[in-house]
Amino acid sequence: MEEERIVSPELETGDKSLEKSLRPQYLAQYIGQDKVKQELSIYIEAAKNREEALDHVLLYGPPGLGKTTMAMVIANEMGVQIRSTSGPAIERSGDLVAVLNELEPGDVLFIDEIHRLPRIAEETLYSAMEDYYVDIMVGQGPTAHPVHFPLPPFTLVGATTRAGMLSAPLRDRFGIISHMEYYQESDLREIVLRSADIFQTEIVDTGAVEIARRSRGTPRIANRLLKRIRDYAEVQSDGVIDQSIADQALQLLQVDKAGLDLVDQKLLKTMIELYHGGPVGLSTIAVNIGEERETVEDMYEPFLIQKGFIKRTPRGRVATELAYQHFNYPYPN
Ligand code: ADE
Repeated sequence: MEEERIVSPELETGDKSLEKSLRPQYLAQYIGQDKVKQELSIYIEAAKNREEALDHVLLYGPPGLGKTTMAMVIANEMGVQIRSTSGPAIERSGDLVAVLNELEPGDVLFIDEIHRLPRIAEETLYSAMEDYYVDIMVGQGPTAHPVHFPLPPFTLVGATTRAGMLSAPLRDRFGIISHMEYYQESDLREIVLRSADIFQTEIVDTGAVEIARRSRGTPRIANRLLKRIRDYAEVQSDGVIDQSIADQALQLLQVDKAGLDLVDQKLLKTMIELYHGGPVGLSTIAVNIGEERETVEDMYEPFLIQKGFIKRTPRGRVATELAYQHFNYPYPN
């Protein structure tokens, strides 16, 4: 069993009900991702005016940034139902057809981790997306024949951590492709204040700023930290979250000033101490911190690169001067 990281951007046990209670329902309540919101609001209004299904939407970006929430917001704004599944949950095209069969006109079909859809199901999706039908094979052996099965117009909302992992034919069938970015500190501060309000927890502005600064640009992490800090504030103090209480609780959680946890710190220190700052291969890094190569690439690296702690080079990953400074190591010339 892997231990759960408090700053893991992945959906962990316990997050589901937490996120449900905090989830914004409409674009107007959704904080941050201004560019995505601005685009979507135009396309949604146009589709509604024409009384058509919204074009298929691909949302891509690191985990924890609100792709699932955005899919739900899209359905609410369109005034339709949402059906949800995920790439790994679909094993055969029959699984996909079963979900498609439940759609009402205009509905949103949300497929999380769409890059993990099996090839055979992906091919079924092509005609469904393009012309709203699927061909189902009926019968066996020499009597097997395709049966044309029409679908209502619908909107596929796909989510993926890496758009590059989608096949070109699938990617090309999305009319709207939106990139979700790490959140600005000011947006995370607002999200923390909003969540604290929903929790009916008293928080002062500097406390919210401290949490925002140490949440890796990720609302899921900000909300998870807020919950733990609220516990700390209630037990160790008067329940009010200020900067000092936030800082104490985050120290206890071993989340450092930049929002790095022990795994991030180990990753960077390994690069610096064992490999002179690199270049180091991704697989070598993964082995050293006991994670899968893909996990390092999808979950640890994007944030560390975004923050300027590591750089990708053709020969491998390199720790930057900023990384050396962060741990007070002298930077070699
Ligand atoms: N809770 C989590 N993410 C949020 C967001 N982007 N806006 C508002 N509340 C949120």
